[in-house]
Amino acid sequence: MSQQKVKYILGIETSCDETACAIVKDGTKIISNVVASSQDIHAKYGGIIPDQAAREQLKSILPVIHEAHVADIDAIGVTVGPGLIGSLLVGVETAKALAMAWNKPIIPVNHLVGHIYANWLEPRTQNLEPPTFPALVLIVSGGHSELVLMKDHGKFKYLGGTRDDAAGECFDKCARLLNLGYPGGPAIEKAAVAGNAKLPRPMISDDNLDFSFSGLKTAVASKLTSYPANFLAYELQEAVTDVLVSKTRRAAKKYDVKNILLAGGVAANKRLREKIPEAICPPIKLCTDNAAYIASAAFFNQKIVPWEKINADPSLGIGV
Ligand code: KG4
Ligand code: ZN
Repeated sequence: MSQQKVKYILGIETSCDETACAIVKDGTKIISNVVASSQDIHAKYGGIIPDQAAREQLKSILPVIHEAHVADIDAIGVTVGPGLIGSLLVGVETAKALAMAWNKPIIPVNHLVGHIYANWLEPRTQNLEPPTFPALVLIVSGGHSELVLMKDHGKFKYLGGTRDDAAGECFDKCARLLNLGYPGGPAIEKAAVAGNAKLPRPMISDDNLDFSFSGLKTAVASKLTSYPANFLAYELQEAVTDVLVSKTRRAAKKYDVKNILLAGGVAANKRLREKIPEAICPPIKLCTDNAAYIASAAFFNQKIVPWEKINADPSLGIGV
């Protein structure tokens, strides 16, 4: 099937605690974009409970597809991994059933690759040129913090990543310690007030492109009684964003890239965006999980796979 023929793609995303469905034209124009989240349920516990997330996915998937007004689509793009197995299966099996019933092709999408394509969606690309290659991508989400070289559509080289907690995970765990609620990233951003608390910048001077954020959680825990939560929130945001920006710039220089792209939920962080003004960033509301970027990634990487051969893969990686 040629790229010209596949115009309208239905995207389905259920890798974690969002149930999302979108229709995107030509990989850039959002026709509909529906996201249902079970975040409020997880907020009570300060983190995601996988079984509960899968059950909520099951409840939401058909209403969300219904609400997206799916009609006359050419193909289905679905997240096959990485993510929580119970959650992934809901989207994958629904996509397979729809593909079989409607006789439409399926394009499997890697969730991390999907996040990157938020940079191809309107409104960003309405007035601006799409990103050019080679591009250096910083993917920062609740489960991942990776630096990836994007040589072309679908061509990735893994350069480095976190050795323990992801940046978003660090925000989520520290927000819990600080009693700021869940998800932690936006809560920390909101609570941050400049003060005199000091935290380390883990691995900032190391000669590699890896990260380590779990020590920051321990450091925050040890200072809970010495500083107000707002000061610790501010300093945590400074520490995480300093390290992310420093390593991203180092990688961009090393690989002499044409663009730096931010992607993932943490890319919504205003302080991060402010500290690296040369980077291309997705519109804030398209940073966190949605299906529009899944449909876009499917458009630009049209590898159709027969539905019988599509399987969820919770530990799918990006690049080699
Ligand atoms: O990409 P995403 O929606 O889901 C995953 O694929 O993990 O990312 C969710 C993560 C959470 O850890 C959340 O705390 C973080 O992104 N996040 C933020 C912000 N908005 C969401 N972190 C910092 N600042 C934000 N504004
Ligand atoms: Zn995500």
